[in-house]
Amino acid sequence: MNSINVRPAEENDAKDIFTWHNDEVTRKMSHSMNTVDWDPHLKWYISALSNPNSCLLICYLTKTEEKVGIVRFTVENNLALTSINIAPNMRGQGLAKLCLSNSISFFRRKYIKITELEAEIKSTNWASRRAFEDVGFVLNHTKDDVGYFTLYLS
Ligand SMILES: CC(C)(COP(=O)(O)OP(=O)(O)OC[C@H]1O[C@@H](n2cnc3c(N)ncnc32)[C@H](O)[C@@H]1OP(=O)(O)O)[C@@H](O)C(=O)NCCC(=O)NCCS
Repeated sequence: MNSINVRPAEENDAKDIFTWHNDEVTRKMSHSMNTVDWDPHLKWYISALSNPNSCLLICYLTKTEEKVGIVRFTVENNLALTSINIAPNMRGQGLAKLCLSNSISFFRRKYIKITELEAEIKSTNWASRRAFEDVGFVLNHTKDDVGYFTLYLS
């Protein structure tokens, strides 16, 4: 069985995150379907790395250290919007739920005041929905083909 580790994203992850972000399936499952150019991406990424309200975590295989994907938490008051992007060559192996559960544990240790995680998932994104539900997210409501999921942290 695969084992996943988590670490904060670093500057030299910028290229991988850029590639995963612009992947066709990723764009289809995101709110904004547009791809992003390198320069604005890098600008956004560097600023996100130093933003205390943004927590970007890289998940990687314990055995080989190969990168599996990114889990991102965007903090707003007492809650954090949670999103995931698995590298295209790592999809379909059940790794998303491992990445989510390890990332949530990592995040909780650092952001102890956050009481609620939220996720917005397109209704057609069954794999994502399954992964988020597997780690405890519950559907709150649906609007315009997007499901709004919540996980309360106790
Ligand atoms: C969506 C994503 C995170 C899923 O990660 P993954 O590791 O590839 O997920 P898997 O393919 O292993 O599927 C996860 C679960 O959903 C199930 N599943 C997959 N497709 C399904 C479908 N069409 N209907 C029902 N269940 C499905 C799988 O069987 C699996 O269940 P299991 O863990 O009980 O076996 C990943 O594909 C990804 O990064 N996609 C692009 C970006 C994205 O959509 N991010 C989420 C935005 S909310």
